[in-house]
Amino acid sequence: MRLVLLGAPGSGKGTQAARLKSDLGVPHISTGDMLRAAVKAGTPVGLKAKAVMDAGKLVSDDILLAMLEERLAQADAKAGFILDGYPRNLAQAAALDDLLARIGKPLSAVVKLDVPNETIIGRCEIRFAAEHRKDDNPEVVRDRLKVYAEQTAPVADFYAQRGKLQVVDGVGALDEVTARVKRALAAAA
Ligand code: AP5
Repeated sequence: MRLVLLGAPGSGKGTQAARLKSDLGVPHISTGDMLRAAVKAGTPVGLKAKAVMDAGKLVSDDILLAMLEERLAQADAKAGFILDGYPRNLAQAAALDDLLARIGKPLSAVVKLDVPNETIIGRCEIRFAAEHRKDDNPEVVRDRLKVYAEQTAPVADFYAQRGKLQVVDGVGALDEVTARVKRALAAAA
């Protein structure tokens, strides 16, 4: 299974990917987690990415593609993957298509978690209070939602035009949302 989880910031991509990975037997690859690890470790990529991430903007496509290529080349990704946070604009979607075409392994499915902005703002407020993730600051969340609407929302259309997109209601108990994603994957198979 080679799955892309799409959805606005805070829509539950990471939460659902973590729940699905053992069932699907593939790793959860989160570009946000990879970048946060790079920031924490103070690597050259992390040093470049930190200010951009704190402001809720997108880190450069070149950095992301290099990071993703390296990660997908690792042994555990041979059986497939759940991608969370990539692609985030049309250039990244095209780069992913190219990369997968080169290895002859196209995406199996793309599932978008649909969650209204007011619910997202509430979720990020709760997480900001608990974890102090800088980009969960309410002002930055508004910017992240704007970046999503302008740059990432067209990625859903890109996959819809290719007959790959399944849209799932991302509001509700975690188990309910997981069950909806599994039904969408069964329908896509
Ligand atoms: P990234 O880490 O990808 O963040 P994001 O997608 O903007 O947002 P989240 O991780 O918050 O969303 P999520 O959908 O995973 O929701 P989650 O499960 O966490 O990216 C961070 C930054 O890195 C970007 O802004 C950018 O700067 C950079 N970056 C990353 N990828 C990039 C790329 N490809 N190109 C360029 N830059 C890139 O859930 C959110 C909260 O809601 C949690 O607290 C969770 O417990 C809660 N929750 C989840 N589901 C439910 C539910 N059903 N009911 C109630 N609460 C729920």
